[in-house]
Amino acid sequence: MYQFDRSAYEARMKWFTHDRFGMFIHWGIYAIPARGEWVRSQERMPESQYRPFFEEFNPVDFDPKAWAKLAKQAGMKYAVLTSKHHDGFCLFDSALTDWKVTNTPFGRDIVREFLDAFRAEGLKVGLYYSLLDWHHPDYPAYGDQNHPERDNPAFKDVPRDFDRYLDYMHGQVRELCTNYGKLDIMWFDFSYGELTGETWRGAELVRMVRELQPGIILDNRLEVSGSGFGSIATDAPLEYSGDFVSPEQIIPQTGFRDSAGRSICWEACITMNDNWGYTALDKNFKPAGTLIRKLVECVSKGGNLLLNVGPDARGNIPPESAAILNAIGEWMRKNGESIYGCGVSDLPKPENGRITRCGKTLYYHILENSIGGVPLQGVGADEIESIRLLADGSEVKQLKGWIWDNYPDVVFVEVSRSARLPDETDTVVAVRLK
Ligand code: GLC
Repeated sequence: MYQFDRSAYEARMKWFTHDRFGMFIHWGIYAIPARGEWVRSQERMPESQYRPFFEEFNPVDFDPKAWAKLAKQAGMKYAVLTSKHHDGFCLFDSALTDWKVTNTPFGRDIVREFLDAFRAEGLKVGLYYSLLDWHHPDYPAYGDQNHPERDNPAFKDVPRDFDRYLDYMHGQVRELCTNYGKLDIMWFDFSYGELTGETWRGAELVRMVRELQPGIILDNRLEVSGSGFGSIATDAPLEYSGDFVSPEQIIPQTGFRDSAGRSICWEACITMNDNWGYTALDKNFKPAGTLIRKLVECVSKGGNLLLNVGPDARGNIPPESAAILNAIGEWMRKNGESIYGCGVSDLPKPENGRITRCGKTLYYHILENSIGGVPLQGVGADEIESIRLLADGSEVKQLKGWIWDNYPDVVFVEVSRSARLPDETDTVVAVRLK
């Protein structure tokens, strides 16, 4: 009988809740149509129209070392690559299928090169693996919610052996957990309708993964989709609960606690534009400043941010994404101390920003300037050992005098002599407590 081991859980999650910021990479032959990773489903594209992209795939510019350097300089501490997405195309040299990158003109094992390059830069590494598989003949098609042939009568009476698909799926996960060295994250995606938990033979799958990769952490989508929490949010998580809640394209209003009030790990996965997979016409990129503030928001609520890039068919990360990552890196180089190893402060959210905390240091993230000095809510002057502007280490003076005497419970500080903050995106004031 499975028993959730909370102390083992907390031990394996330590690096994750320290590192806070990761890169998600959605890549595959769908980068050629360049209309997102769901193009087959959304356009009900038959395999015959999709296969030419397989026969054409040859990302001549693929440079995983450059990707890894870009992620590292952005302040990202881990990265998760799609090893197989819903289209079933494998970015690794699986012995169980011909529908794989080593059978395309490119011919190389992208998963292996990704893992080698990102480990070499000191990043933790994870693989996303889709439980769905629109290529496999035994995966449900007609009548399924998502399959490209879901309403094609020609697929109505085709016999399918779902258990044979599960053997294939488990076999591929075994390949990934056996042939590619130490993996830090296995990111399954996603459960829906009847396809959840034991329908995937979830307990057996997780047992195998944890046996082959003892310290690995898992997301919660063997149980739910991106919208659910699953049993990890209860006081008796099931064996396939996974280790963190995975809100998608949203930063939750608060962090997550289980039914006994214990905080549980979570990671918001967010696209830079509006698509996971490369979408040539989607230029709706979020500004770097917005994404910095979202990272701070996640950490202030005890969560992580997994920020996505979708490389194009030549293997290049879009220049807009690279520019955003470079700008985030600028801020992180000066202020990363307020992110790494930080979490909730247990203080009420200030009206002018957010607070992250690590031990006896509170990091006030000032997102809006004040008139009359910046209030540091929740801390008394007698508790403070020092106040510093994190970006340059300079002392920040407490404002005293008749203007502030009316508010003895609030510490007001001067971070700028002008109407503009030193960093309009987020000026971080580090308050070290006695
Ligand atoms: C959703 C999408 C999938 C994407 C995932 C990322 O599940 O279906 O395309 O990979 O979100 O979280």
